[in-house]
Amino acid sequence: MPAPDPTHAPTLAVIGGGQLARMMAEPAAAMGLPLRLLAEAEGVSAAQVIVDHQVGDYRDLATLRAVTAGCRVVTFDHEHVPTEHLHALQDDGLAVRPGPEALVHAQDKGVMRERLAELGIPCPRNAIVSSVAEVEAFGFPCVLKTTRGGYDGKGVWFVRSVEDCPAAFEAAAASGVRLLAEELVDFRRELSALVARSPSGQAASYPVVASTQKDGICHEVIAPAPGLDPELAGQAQEIALRVAGALDVTGVLAVELFETNDGRVLVNELAMRPHNTGHWTQDGAVTSQFENHLRAVLDLPLGSPAPRARWTVMVNILGGPDRPDGQSVGRLYDGYPHALARDPHLRVHLYGKDLRPGRKVGHVNAYGDDLDECLERARHAAAWFRGDLGNESE
Ligand SMILES: Nc1ncnc2c1ncn2[C@@H]1O[C@H](COP(=O)(O)OP(=O)(O)OP(=O)(O)O)[C@@H](O)[C@H]1O
Ligand SMILES: [Mg+2]
Repeated sequence: MPAPDPTHAPTLAVIGGGQLARMMAEPAAAMGLPLRLLAEAEGVSAAQVIVDHQVGDYRDLATLRAVTAGCRVVTFDHEHVPTEHLHALQDDGLAVRPGPEALVHAQDKGVMRERLAELGIPCPRNAIVSSVAEVEAFGFPCVLKTTRGGYDGKGVWFVRSVEDCPAAFEAAAASGVRLLAEELVDFRRELSALVARSPSGQAASYPVVASTQKDGICHEVIAPAPGLDPELAGQAQEIALRVAGALDVTGVLAVELFETNDGRVLVNELAMRPHNTGHWTQDGAVTSQFENHLRAVLDLPLGSPAPRARWTVMVNILGGPDRPDGQSVGRLYDGYPHALARDPHLRVHLYGKDLRPGRKVGHVNAYGDDLDECLERARHAAAWFRGDLGNESE
């Protein structure tokens, strides 16, 4: 049992030991905010840096009660804690932030679509489908999504014909969730609008960014979105603020959007936690999304979301392709001498994860006045860590 915190700051419980919890620990340390973590296993990303941690299953209520004992507030690294447990913790008197009524909209894409429709927020045409015939009636091509449990493109199928559908129905049946059909949006690019909102209702809205996905995984983010019509940027920010208020979100809300070729924004999905499209804020904004998440869930005044530089580019470092001998060609610590020497302005964030193909193990941020230069610097560094550069002779 750790000694009581001498600053008398309340201990904030964080459920989930991934990189998002790890990155909350940085501003928590700076601000003297004690964190207590529930980690999936010893040695996971956040457990390496949060001393006060327990290992256990977030699907077990007794475990959740044990880790939050003595805490006033609990928050999350992921959205997978069962809703009924969140209600039970709330009934115990704990402040659950975001609360279960809000979080369900990030957990269940079907519930999210129904609620956004009620609020009149623009979304792709969509319907819950329970048979291939219903998908056919909805119309091909379309996108099928499991309503719960998807991430990084898992649980998303692009279907063009009846033959493409069974895999999605099998996956939905296997996990006992509903299947959502959405029109295949012919988008110009993907945008993200990020806000932090506190229980007292204060909100901070970050500049709208452009994000690129590769194989369903966020790959690159440019802040702010280049050439975005200010009117559309305003609409995107307004959508995020309205959703945060209407759903009573506490903490960070990320609204993933499509910018259509005919100049509209449509909501793709919601995340209620720090989000990959907000990692640029660590080095490119006055207050990072991680710090504002902590401030928001503790109901402290929020920090400025203003950018520090004209442009910030974030590129994810993903585990590179494995070599035939099973070794990854990527580099982590070994990548530092070249990456840091080449670009003294580069900011590198590694998550303490080992390299596996397609796994997010870190990201880099490059900021400055010239977008092309920021893109080149961030892409070069990420490719270097990934092992796409400098391994040609191996
Ligand atoms: N209706 C659609 N039309 C066109 N493309 C889509 C549509 N829905 C999703 N996509 C594409 O698939 C990607 C993944 O979809 P979505 O964000 O719903 O899934 P996810 O696995 O929950 O993602 P995340 O990793 O963000 O949690 C989107 O970023 C987008 O590129
Ligand atoms: Mg998504």
